[in-house]
Amino acid sequence: MSSPDALFPVVRSQIAGQLIESLVQQYGTPCYVYDMATIRQKVADLQAFDVIRYAQKACSNIAILDRLRRLGVVVDAVSAGEVQRALSAGFDPHSDPHGIVYTADVFDQEALAMVKRLGLHVNCGSPDMIDQLGRVAPGSSVTLRINPGFGHGHSQKTNTGGPQSKHGIWHEEIDSCLRLADVHNIAITGLHMHIGSGTDLEHLSQVCESLEKIAVQVGRTLTSISAGGGLPVPYKQGQSYVDLGRYYQLWDQTRKHLEGLFGHRLRLEIEPGRYLVAESGFLIAEIRSVKKMGQNTFYLLDAGFNDLARPILYGAYHPISICHRGHQPPGNELVEVVVGGPLCESGDIFTQEEGGFVAKRSLPAAKVGDLLVLEVAGAYGFVMSSNYNGRFRAPELLIEDGQIHCIRSRETYEDLIRGEKIPPPPKA
Ligand code: LLP
Repeated sequence: MSSPDALFPVVRSQIAGQLIESLVQQYGTPCYVYDMATIRQKVADLQAFDVIRYAQKACSNIAILDRLRRLGVVVDAVSAGEVQRALSAGFDPHSDPHGIVYTADVFDQEALAMVKRLGLHVNCGSPDMIDQLGRVAPGSSVTLRINPGFGHGHSQKTNTGGPQSKHGIWHEEIDSCLRLADVHNIAITGLHMHIGSGTDLEHLSQVCESLEKIAVQVGRTLTSISAGGGLPVPYKQGQSYVDLGRYYQLWDQTRKHLEGLFGHRLRLEIEPGRYLVAESGFLIAEIRSVKKMGQNTFYLLDAGFNDLARPILYGAYHPISICHRGHQPPGNELVEVVVGGPLCESGDIFTQEEGGFVAKRSLPAAKVGDLLVLEVAGAYGFVMSSNYNGRFRAPELLIEDGQIHCIRSRETYEDLIRGEKIPPPPKA
C-alpha cells in the first residue's frame, strides 16, 4: 500500500497550471474541469495489463473517450447510448481486442438490436442474455461475467458480488450456461469478475482462486480473463492506492496457471473506471451565501447534488479547497463549516456521511464570491448529474498541454425542456 503523494490542499488557485479565477471568468460556475496529464499518468500506471478496458460509465464525454482511444485504451458499454458514445469517439467494435464490449446483466430491446446490427462482442451477466443473444445471433462468441458468491465495495451500494447482488452469473450456474451456449452454438471465450468498487488485495486472491476454478470448468475455449474494475483511489488523507505491482502479479499468476493447463496464451484485461479519471476531475462552484444556523456555519454554493451526487448517495467524501477572490483571508486559521448546495432539499449537503449525517469540514475562512473546489470528482461526477430543480447541467473543460478545451457547453433553457410538449387544452 502506498499513500497519496501530497496532502490534499485546502487552498488552491490553479488546476493543471490554469488560474481557477480565469477559468471561471470564461466559463462560469458550476463547472467541471479535467486534467489530461493525470489521465495519461493513470493509463501509464496500468501498462502491464494486455488490455485496459475503460468503464466509460465513470466519465463518458466523447472527448475523454477519444483521448483514451489514442492512448491505446478500449472501452466497455453498458447501454445502447454508451455504444453510440464509443462509436462517436472512433472506437472500432471489431478491432483486436474488441474496441467496444457490451457488458450488462440484461439487454433492453434497443441494446439487443444494436448488438445484433453491429455484431458487438457481449460480456453476459445473466443466463438470459446468452439465450437472447443466441436467438438473434447464433454462433457468436461471448465472455461471461461471474458472481463468485462474495463481493466488496466502498459502500453497500457499490458491492457487486454475493447473493445480495444482481450482477453476474452465479458461480454455481456455469454448467447450465455451458449447455445453453451449446444450444446456440455460442463459444465462451472469456471470463470476467468485477466484485465491486474499492477492491483490496485480500479479496483479490479469493477472486483469482474462484476465477481459476470456473475457468477450468469452462475449458480451452477461453482466450481472455478480465480482472474487472474497482481499483480504489484515495479521496481522503489516510486512504491509499492498491499496490498495483502486487495486484498485477496475482492476476498474472492466475493467467499463467491457466495457460499451463490450456496450452495456449490468455489475454489479461483490466476494466477500471474510477482509477483512470477520478483524480483528474474538479467541480468548481461559487460560494453564494455564508450563513450561521445556531452553532453551524454553512457555505452554500451554486452547485448541488444535481451536479455531484456521490455525497448524498453514498455519504462519499470529496476533498474540498477554497480559491479566494479579490482578498486574502485574515490568517491561515481554518473554520469548521458545513458545505451545501442550492437545491430545495435538506439532503443537499456535500459534507455528509453515509446515512445522511451532516458533518463539518475544516476549511479556510471564505466570503460570498469566493470559489470552492470539490476535488477527485472526475469519476461518477458529471455523468450522474441531473436537471433536478430546473438546473442546467454544468460545462466540462479539458485541460491538455496548457490548452483549455470546452468539451461540453453549459446547458440552456432549450436543453431543459427538449422533448416536452404541452397538449391542447382540455375542452371546457
Ligand atoms: N466493470 C463493471 C462491470 C462495473 O460494474 C464497474 C462499475 C466498473 C467496471 C468500474 O468500476 P470502478 O473501477 O469505477 O470502481 N457510482 C458509484 C460507482 C458505481 C460503480 C458501478 N460499476 C460511485 O460513485 O462510487
